[in-house]
Amino acid sequence: MERHYSVAIDGPSGAGKSTIARAAAQRFGFLYVDTGAIYRTVGLAAERRGIAYGDSAAVGALLGGLDIRLGHGEDGVQREFLGGEDVSGLIRTPEISRRASDVSAMPAVRAFLLDMQRSLGRSMSVIMDGRDICTVVLPDADVKIFLTASAECRAGRRFRELAAKGIDMGFDEVLREIVARDEHDSSRAAAPLTVAEGASVIDTSELTLAESIEAVCTVISEKLGVRP
Ligand code: DC
Repeated sequence: MERHYSVAIDGPSGAGKSTIARAAAQRFGFLYVDTGAIYRTVGLAAERRGIAYGDSAAVGALLGGLDIRLGHGEDGVQREFLGGEDVSGLIRTPEISRRASDVSAMPAVRAFLLDMQRSLGRSMSVIMDGRDICTVVLPDADVKIFLTASAECRAGRRFRELAAKGIDMGFDEVLREIVARDEHDSSRAAAPLTVAEGASVIDTSELTLAESIEAVCTVISEKLGVRP
């Protein structure tokens, strides 16, 4: 049987995880799984129902009826479907970022999504990114990476991304959101963001995107003994 590898990448928002992990997955021929997008999809469902922030009972009641699916195109880009509707673009707004952070602190949501994430890692070699991939979802991953960057640097990147999409938010507001979300994701009781034991820490503050991809691919190559 062919050997399946698993690469787990955690880190705060805006560290470049998705772009870097997707590029690395393409180089190694692995499936890229963006778990943040799954939390965002649950957040979108909660938003659409008009559920109050922090109302874990209402979100819990919603979960059983949710039909969330992932699709991967030829290019390895993941798309998210909610009840058959492609919501990949809709989940990338500041409101849904806040919603995702809110629902992701709820233990029922994390338990609901755990099997889905783990089963993706069973069928083929994967690079999966999120907040608790090294610690909870794939604790036996072959490679564990914690990808980070300073809050200012991450805010600068997010600010440019939002501006490119025509979303008008000042830099200071973006920075405040990033710091608030870091705080929320790291201080929650359920699977907080933390550096897992044995994880290689890569700080991309001073690296270009190409250098960051190189740094991640080098760690993967060394740990797996395979070339990209
Ligand atoms: O990576 P992202 O910004 O798309 O993630 C959206 C939110 O989901 C973020 O606030 C943290 C949460 N999340 C999580 O709790 N666990 C994961 N494995 C991935 C994301």
